[in-house]
Amino acid sequence: MVEAVFQPGGDAATALYIVAFSLFIIGIKQGTHPTTAKRGNLIAAVGMAVAIVTTLLLDGMGNWGLIFLGLGIGTAVGVIASIRVQMTEMPQMVALYNGVGGGAVALIAWSEIRHGISLGEDFPLDELIPVIFAGVVGSVSFWGSNIAFAKLQDLIPTRPIAAPGQQVINAVLLLAIVVICVILAVDHESPSQGLFILLLVLAAILGNLVVLPIGGADMPVVISLLNAFTGLSAAAAGFALDNVALIVAGTLVGSSGTILTLEMATAMNRSVSNILFSGFGGAPSGGGGGTGEEKPHVSIGAQDAAIKLAYADSVVIVPGYGLAVAQAQHAIKEVADELEKRGVTVNYAIHPVAGRMPGHMNVLLAEADVAYENLKEMEEINPEMSRTDVAVVVGANDVTNPAAKNDPDSPIAGMPIIEVSEAQEVIVIKRSLSPGFAGIDNDLFYEPNTSMLFADAKAAAAEIASEIGNL
Ligand code: TAP
Repeated sequence: MVEAVFQPGGDAATALYIVAFSLFIIGIKQGTHPTTAKRGNLIAAVGMAVAIVTTLLLDGMGNWGLIFLGLGIGTAVGVIASIRVQMTEMPQMVALYNGVGGGAVALIAWSEIRHGISLGEDFPLDELIPVIFAGVVGSVSFWGSNIAFAKLQDLIPTRPIAAPGQQVINAVLLLAIVVICVILAVDHESPSQGLFILLLVLAAILGNLVVLPIGGADMPVVISLLNAFTGLSAAAAGFALDNVALIVAGTLVGSSGTILTLEMATAMNRSVSNILFSGFGGAPSGGGGGTGEEKPHVSIGAQDAAIKLAYADSVVIVPGYGLAVAQAQHAIKEVADELEKRGVTVNYAIHPVAGRMPGHMNVLLAEADVAYENLKEMEEINPEMSRTDVAVVVGANDVTNPAAKNDPDSPIAGMPIIEVSEAQEVIVIKRSLSPGFAGIDNDLFYEPNTSMLFADAKAAAAEIASEIGNL
């Protein structure tokens, strides 16, 4: 039906793959800056299209009916998801897509084993080892990502779920997996398909059991780690299939996923092993976890907040997860517009782990057309805080919690924070005194220069904007 154009490993195919990788790398690089991220995404997508078309035109491609069916289903799912999925649901969508990648790699590994066995020839070790690696890691990634998706989508409880002795069970599973890998490698002249399937099943159980005990709010870090695993397993599959595209793309995903995981862990001042094994982060945002007793605090309405803001010279807005939940970015931009009309300087303080995914706040504020120069990184804005008249915390909590600095026993001890209490006045917009992701009380709410505005962030911001307009 479609004529083969390229020879696998031939010059033309290799040249086109190099074009594709170059586009991936340019795309990733551009993705690191909000002003170029959209273009970067498009460039990487073009690179992927070049890689796919080149691969499909290689000599030896098989069942075209199935290939087009797969392309059709994949395209339909991708287009519908990109239209329907909300920004706040992005982490679980990434989990799902990542899982599918890992699952595909595990299936490729299994089909390679079947193919090798059907040829009845000695399975060379340099082919078998990557196949085994791809099968195990792809399977762990597929099942782990599904659990991450289910937790973030509230299909299963987001709290850590673990059986007694869970770590021991995991260690035994891991040991069994290693033993089977060794048996398969030793027996490489005729590896047992049954044993390989058992390997996939044990890796699947391990993937489930490793992710279930992790709290829902730590999932972005776990997803990024599983993403790195999927990349590495794809690279291994590339070695087995002798496909340069898979090797390079898999390595890019593996390395960028690893860097992102480490950066997120550093920004939360936690080690990756603490995230994976401590069962931290079970309390749902705003869902309690505090002491239950209400400490004295000052509560104000939108009109008071509007007056404080309108008569300030400089205002810093500190967005957090609640801004994303309320989709308050446009309303907050209206507040800033009203203030700027009155000559007030408005900046936004961006904490690296505010929200639930990397760059969460940047994406939301960019969507509301907030100028990029007004987004200030934590290191840049903190020295400005003491010269700020009003800091407005919008649905943020942990990223402003002074306990990170003052209480060495706090779960967030050592996490750098946006130092809002240095400002002359602080207004915190959230619905209650409930804790955020870390499940701990925030002393900021009870400080003498803090006023609490209890409301949904979007409704409060809209009211403040209209009150400022009326002043
Ligand atoms: P959180 O500490 O989770 O606090 C969010 C606050 O938003 C809650 O206290 C909640 O209080 C409020 N809220 C929820 N819905 C709201 C609404 N409709 N209107 C107004 N407020 C609302 O958020 P944060 O300060 O952004 O900190 C992020 C946390 O997530 C950090 O602990 C971080 O380590 C963790 N984390 C982040 C990432 C990344 S990469 N960003 C990844 C994993 C974990 P009420 O219920 O009282 O309204």
